[in-house]
Amino acid sequence: MNPRHFISLLDLSGDELRSLINRAIVLRNNRDPDYQPLKGQVLAMIFEKSSTRTRISFESGMSHFGGSALFLSPRDTQLGRGEPLQDSARVISSMVDCIMLRTDKHETVTTFAQYSSVPVINGLTDLQHPCQLLADMQTYFEHRGDIKGKTVTWIGDGNNMCHSYIHAATVLDFTLNIASPKAYLPLKDIVESAGERIRFFDTPLAAAQNSDLVVTDVWASMGQEEEQKQREIAFRNYQVNAEVMKAANSDALFMHCLPAHRGEEVSADVIDGSQSVIFDEAENRLHAQKALLEFLLCKKSR
Ligand code: CP
Ligand code: NVA
Repeated sequence: MNPRHFISLLDLSGDELRSLINRAIVLRNNRDPDYQPLKGQVLAMIFEKSSTRTRISFESGMSHFGGSALFLSPRDTQLGRGEPLQDSARVISSMVDCIMLRTDKHETVTTFAQYSSVPVINGLTDLQHPCQLLADMQTYFEHRGDIKGKTVTWIGDGNNMCHSYIHAATVLDFTLNIASPKAYLPLKDIVESAGERIRFFDTPLAAAQNSDLVVTDVWASMGQEEEQKQREIAFRNYQVNAEVMKAANSDALFMHCLPAHRGEEVSADVIDGSQSVIFDEAENRLHAQKALLEFLLCKKSR
């Protein structure tokens, strides 16, 4: 039987995602050290890019559940010397129970999944960051209840996070307003797959009107460091600041996947202000991914 993978948020139905979020909320509120459903199980974590939250949350999550996690960097494995992905996936999956990858190319994760005999989790690619959305949605549900029918505003780069927000709008049925510079819009086929839930605006102020959640991300993602200066110019009118938050609903939340650059994509008063839930959001990476690991690896919880 083919294992169940988590490459995209679209791999989950709305019911599955809601039950995973509710499970993550339970795990956050009631930590039982004797509950070790992954005892003896091993997660291999392949990181081609840097990470704080993703690495620590998966490693701690496996440890809480009685299992363990291996940190593998291409620099120190044969992957970095060009061993074919197909062979690597078959070999690694024959020795562990689950594989998490953070890679540049989305195809690396899909190829791994094709040849892996165990579940593969997307820990971020150039195209998507679905694990972050589990935590973001958990955070919204905790603070405000179900997001169905609400309005979320994405401001800034139409990047991997924006794509996963588009997927979340589809799976959980909310409206996503997007304000991005013309040259940095999200990919057309991803936008089209979400239908009328996605609406584009010319300015952050217009996009934030009537919004329940405002989200942004860095202007230059990992691997785009050389474009930093050019992007600072392109995005200079796309900062989430007090004026933008004022245009949103008075009880709107602010989220950012972190790491953040205060004074660039978000002003310090917003990210450190009362509407910001960034630290709950970051902590929820742990709880949401524990719920994900349980969902993928414990047959009983499905
Ligand atoms: N948000 C996020 O994925 O953080 P890291 O890059 O630190 O893992
Ligand atoms: N868009 C960012 C997200 C980091 C968690 C990046 O890809 O670098």
